Amino acid sequence: MQLVAASVFALASGVLAQNVVQFNVTRGVPGVHLGSIPVLGKRGTTHSERLINFMAGGGYYARVSLGTPPQVMTMLLDTGSSDAWVLSHKADLCMDDDLQQSADKICVDTFNPSKSSTHKVIDPRGFQIKYLDGGIASGGWMQDDLTIGGTTIKSLQLAYVTKAKRNTGILGLGFAASEKAATKYPNIIDQLANQNLISSKAFSLYLNDRRTDAGSILFGGIDTDKFIGPLQIIPLLATNGTYTSFEIDFSSLVVTLPNSTTLTMETSMLDHPAPAVLDSGTTLSYLPDDMVDTLTSALATYFDPDLGMTLIDCSYLSSSSSSSSLSFTFHFLNSTASIRVPVWEMVLDVLSPSYIPPPASPFQNACLFGIQSTEIFETTGTVKQPNFTLLGDTFLRSAYVVFDLGNHEVGMGQANLNSSASRIIELKEGPKKDDDDDDNNGGGKNAAGDSATKTRGLPVVTGVLAQQTTFTPTAGPVMTLVTTKNAAAAAAVGRSGSGRGGEMLGVLGVVGLASFFAVLGGVFMAL
Ligand SMILES: *[C@@H]1O[C@H](CO)[C@@H](O)[C@H](O)[C@H]1NC(C)=O
Ligand SMILES: *[C@@H]1O[C@H](CO)[C@@H](O)[C@H](O)[C@H]1NC(C)=O
Ligand SMILES: *[C@@H]1O[C@H](CO)[C@@H](O)[C@H](O)[C@H]1NC(C)=O
Ligand SMILES: *[C@@H]1O[C@H](CO)[C@@H](O)[C@H](O)[C@H]1NC(C)=O
Ligand SMILES: *[C@@H]1O[C@H](CO)[C@@H](O)[C@H](O)[C@H]1NC(C)=O
Ligand SMILES: *[C@@H]1O[C@H](CO)[C@@H](O)[C@H](O)[C@H]1NC(C)=O
Repeated sequence: MQLVAASVFALASGVLAQNVVQFNVTRGVPGVHLGSIPVLGKRGTTHSERLINFMAGGGYYARVSLGTPPQVMTMLLDTGSSDAWVLSHKADLCMDDDLQQSADKICVDTFNPSKSSTHKVIDPRGFQIKYLDGGIASGGWMQDDLTIGGTTIKSLQLAYVTKAKRNTGILGLGFAASEKAATKYPNIIDQLANQNLISSKAFSLYLNDRRTDAGSILFGGIDTDKFIGPLQIIPLLATNGTYTSFEIDFSSLVVTLPNSTTLTMETSMLDHPAPAVLDSGTTLSYLPDDMVDTLTSALATYFDPDLGMTLIDCSYLSSSSSSSSLSFTFHFLNSTASIRVPVWEMVLDVLSPSYIPPPASPFQNACLFGIQSTEIFETTGTVKQPNFTLLGDTFLRSAYVVFDLGNHEVGMGQANLNSSASRIIELKEGPKKDDDDDDNNGGGKNAAGDSATKTRGLPVVTGVLAQQTTFTPTAGPVMTLVTTKNAAAAAAVGRSGSGRGGEMLGVLGVVGLASFFAVLGGVFMAL
């Protein structure tokens, strides 16, 4: 606890700016804290913090501090939901000895309101959210000061969770329209803007290479060193005139096979629309079943019915093998914008060495495939019609994405992986339209914005010319996974009596199934 607090103060001291808030995010299994992290100097109007990426873990976490004096919290960054919540020091998960036996369930950081002089209760009940993976969190509403990347947001409303299965809080970064509160409130993005800490309700996410330990998030700005070529601007889709999620037009997936032939899958060929939601809270990416079927035949992937997941040959992991030219290009906005994901970003080596694929599998060395079918949500009972696409971390790592909530668009560029420099442009709110934020062309899904005569919205900017080739490894910590946790996790499942789940946990060699396979996308759920 002490160590963690010390590193957060170090982060805070690196930051002096006024209109941009930046912090690094960390990927991985919460509960395993890293040592202190070097701090880069301030830059113009920028605040920064660090996102650390645990090699084998899932999810990207940020450390923030809450209350007076500050209590340090680790929170999962989630563009797929809109509420921020922290675990109460009285959360069931943290009080129950049996639950605590399971290593992955150890509460990482909890909040004790009685120790904060700035804390205020808004409603002791009234918060409940269900995520796509079936996880539920519930509790009440409170208000307190939250410090992120050295910037303090005064009196932020957030939920105080007493019942949850997750061991860290979540920092929802989506639209207020998707908040799970009876009365909508200004959430973190709104408050950063309202309190003049940033000039535009926008943030940029850079998750970086799967093989690195850190990415970053920048509030109120764009870092043009972090992407290659032009920033492609894509309007968000509204539902019934309201923007509820980072949903964009997904037109096709083009797979370039190792022998250079291409395989094109147009979403217009599907019998339903399949707009894509950009969701940092989801570890993998989920595509309509028809597309996944086509991929399965072309790539010889294998669906293990016991695991309920599609697997791929681990030989694709290496970026220097003959198959490394295999890539997935996602086209958006009627194919006017695209992001290419190399195969090694779509292969996750997370299965235990003791896992042996069934005899029908075309390969022995099995890895988890970064693309799965949305049909899985039908079987988990969370979604009736899985007619959408969820682009999670396996997609997002190859992109630099600017989420602009004020102008209802995203800017997307091919990520310049391992970027070690920084050129930050502060975003200013463009000239306002006469009408209000949530207004657009009305019913159904509509692309808002006007690309022909662009008077407001994201600026036209270009990143670097090519992928940076000189690379200095970050002096970051070495990621070690504590393998004994597998046994503890399997034992925990044994206790809860779920045979099927037990198999899954026994097989996966990662700490904490729940955190690895986070599928947040809370905005889909009406509770
Ligand atoms: C964020 O990460 C960069 C790159 O690793 C590092 O140089 C910088 O010091 C970090 N910023 C903070 C505030 O920790
Ligand atoms: C980025 O850095 C990691 C090591 O941290 C390295 O394994 C990887 O190959 C680098 N990626 C690129 C594209 O250079
Ligand atoms: C959109 O509006 C229609 C008509 O008012 C309503 O039936 C439908 O449920 C709404 N859809 C959503 C997703 O809110
Ligand atoms: C390229 O590879 C794919 C999949 O392995 C195969 O179906 C196709 O026939 C090959 N094309 C050529 C021109 O070799
Ligand atoms: C998409 O592009 C095609 C070909 O350029 C064009 O015919 C079609 O009208 C476009 N559709 C939309 C919705 O813009
Ligand atoms: C999926 O289908 C349902 C029912 O047809 C529809 O209400 C919903 O808007 C569709 N979702 C998407 C993302 O297209």
